Amino acid sequence: MKFYIKTFGCQMNEHDSEIIAGVLQQAGYRPCDELDAADIIVVNTCCIRESAENKIWGYIGNLKNIKYKRPGVIIAMLGCMTQQTTISAALKRYGSHIDIVLGTYQQHRLPEYITRAMIGNGQIVDISEDNRDFPDELPCVRTSGVTAQVNISYGCNNFCSYCIVPYVRGRERSRSLNAILSEIREAAAAGSKEIMLLGQNVNSYGKDLGEAGQNDAPDFATVLKAACAVPGIKRVRYMSSHPRDFSNALVDEISKLPQVRSYYHLPLQSGCDKTLKAMNRGYDTARYAAIIDHIREQTPEAAVTTDIIVGFPGETEDDFQATLDFIARCRFDAAYTFLYSPRSGTPAAKMADQVPLQVKKERLQRLTALQNQISLEKNQTYIGQIVHVLVEGPSKNNPEYLTGRTESNKIVILRGGMELVNQIVAVKITGAKTWHLEAL
Ligand code: 5AD
Ligand code: SF4
Repeated sequence: MKFYIKTFGCQMNEHDSEIIAGVLQQAGYRPCDELDAADIIVVNTCCIRESAENKIWGYIGNLKNIKYKRPGVIIAMLGCMTQQTTISAALKRYGSHIDIVLGTYQQHRLPEYITRAMIGNGQIVDISEDNRDFPDELPCVRTSGVTAQVNISYGCNNFCSYCIVPYVRGRERSRSLNAILSEIREAAAAGSKEIMLLGQNVNSYGKDLGEAGQNDAPDFATVLKAACAVPGIKRVRYMSSHPRDFSNALVDEISKLPQVRSYYHLPLQSGCDKTLKAMNRGYDTARYAAIIDHIREQTPEAAVTTDIIVGFPGETEDDFQATLDFIARCRFDAAYTFLYSPRSGTPAAKMADQVPLQVKKERLQRLTALQNQISLEKNQTYIGQIVHVLVEGPSKNNPEYLTGRTESNKIVILRGGMELVNQIVAVKITGAKTWHLEAL
């Protein structure tokens, strides 16, 4: 029997899908690339913003047709969106064609539930939180031979007031350093040159490990150093960081690691102190600016990117202007920008002064225009430079070319044959766009 997995959402979800694929293959199912040929359809869901959920409702609506034509097909919905009790209740009513509904703690039990669904006794729902085991021993089928994604922690303790993640992925649990390292060694032995360390807040790694009252637990710097020491690993990336837990000492450690030091992603969320406080972020713009300044002193060549939310409740025109000014000051290489989306159950959803959608959209446009200008200027400084690109594969937009990334994580479109995939090649940059460089 063949399975098809559709993944929505972040890198953490992409990696969960690699584990789901591993678990299904271990149970004897085979992967397939076509929805119409699949006997089992798995939808791995996201709920970070309303737009993600709307897309998913649309997608599962379309699956009704498939179930109608092929009633034997098993449809399973997993992930962050289904972990919410409101959603699993709604699915009982509007998603009777969904056979299995699992939350974020029970994904590894999918094979067992598939067997039960085949016998057929109505929709199976398991969003219980009783199993918080780490998938240390779970198989994983990597979709990329170049970059191996490795979980270092699960869940989040921060409770940023807009964010639903702590509610659907639970409290932070760090994985043991041994489990992390053996996975990295395995990936390196299989040929991966890049490691992506995953956690909702990688910087607080290890705080829950070690003996009570003792200071013997590994921290994030330990993980980075150990990952870099694995033979064959040329690049180490991580996602996501939290500025509150990003110390100057960590920047100093990172700047000693050539595989890591050229790229930082440090979500700012807002450049207005009042908004940062209402977001419960635990830092202000002065503290954030100090980190950026320290990074630039230590590694002037490093690229720095960020995340920004516009239209958080109570954000006035002046508050938004403060964000624009701060962005102009920090001069990020790129910013991932989002319209604030109220998430049910989070404190911000209940705050007064929700910003009208039109105002949010207009602010997003102004922010994008400013950031695009800065991104382009930053990218133009690469023209004429020789950069080292880890080649990932054919370019999606133009399969005649290859795509890869510089040490500073900039996308480069380059010429060459498939034999260059998973190789690091030196190329001269000939052109610069807002979101990528060209070596053509
Ligand atoms: N609305 C808009 N953006 C959000 N993010 C998280 N929650 C929300 C929300 N409710 C953004 C943050 C985070 C990124 C992954 O998604 O910027 O860093
Ligand atoms: Fe959400 Fe904040 Fe945790 Fe990131 S750090 S997952 S934004 S609560």
